[in-house]
Amino acid sequence: MKIAVTAASGQLGSAIVEAVVECTSAESVIALARTPQRAKHLGVEVRPGDYNEPLQLEQALQGVDTLLIVSGMDAPDKRIEQHRNVIRAAKAAGVKKLVYTSVQGAEEGTAFSPVIQSNRQTEQDIRDSGLDWVIGRNGIYIEPDVEYIENYKKVGKIVNCAADGKCGYTTRQELGYAYARMLTKDKHNGNTYNLHGEALTQTELASYLNLAFGTDLKFESMTVDEYKQDRVAELGDFIGTVIAGIYQGIREGKSNNPSDFEAAAGRAHQSWDSYFSSLKASNP
Ligand SMILES: NC(=O)c1ccc[n+]([C@@H]2O[C@H](COP(=O)([O-])OP(=O)(O)OC[C@H]3O[C@@H](n4cnc5c(N)ncnc54)[C@H](OP(=O)(O)O)[C@@H]3O)[C@@H](O)[C@H]2O)c1
Repeated sequence: MKIAVTAASGQLGSAIVEAVVECTSAESVIALARTPQRAKHLGVEVRPGDYNEPLQLEQALQGVDTLLIVSGMDAPDKRIEQHRNVIRAAKAAGVKKLVYTSVQGAEEGTAFSPVIQSNRQTEQDIRDSGLDWVIGRNGIYIEPDVEYIENYKKVGKIVNCAADGKCGYTTRQELGYAYARMLTKDKHNGNTYNLHGEALTQTELASYLNLAFGTDLKFESMTVDEYKQDRVAELGDFIGTVIAGIYQGIREGKSNNPSDFEAAAGRAHQSWDSYFSSLKASNP
């Protein structure tokens, strides 16, 4: 069986490729990438796979049985069409099963909601494709908060508008583990899974970062409007507004959903105690 993974040059795509290789073999996996040279290090066959190039996608998907589609990064309307290019190419090439990496969050009422809606539309397109399917709704990646540690240290606190909202965080490695099972086991077909570990408040996140990095970060909440102004000043209109929308969703409880990680992965999600203790061990 041949399993292809799109956006394999990216962090999630490459984590999924590595996990599928681990539970099958390097010969079973094809990495699709818009920029193929960025996926060479994965040690599997690499084929071109630009979401804007329907013919290239159809050619690249020849001989593929199961396809993992990583959600794109473009503006919401453009994304829907790009994902449709991939779905159509998969059908034309004879792919039998699609697995899609969707997202959790507020479906309406925040600046992030159009992104959530575009993911929901692709989910529907996949369910309507006539192929076998499995959908994962990813929690929020925790790695960006870890990578932001030097900035947090400078200000001594985490500031956003999440208030005491809990967020179902995950890591790309844990997602890779779950997607590898969703790709290779038929029992998952027809399921939509929320994929994340234990939900954390921002205060709990600050404590875990303190444990890993020996810091004394506190969490301070702002109103949604204050945070939006703050983010737009630093990151510009588009990204700043979207980031504020993500934290508004957390504040409103939209990222605090029951997790189906264990059903998808066949084991529990890594605990945050274990994740942050390993980080501490690698940052003595
Ligand atoms: N759950 C979360 O917290 C969260 C956060 C951020 C994003 N996301 C979503 O998760 C996805 C994967 O995240 P990531 O961490 O892997 O992001 P990443 O490391 O930035 O990788 C993005 C990938 O998308 C590829 N790509 C961009 N435009 C493409 C196109 N037109 N055709 C084919 N591939 C294209 C890039 O290819 P190149 O190497 O050619 O640039 C790259 O491989 C994102 O795209 C986004 O939808 C989720």
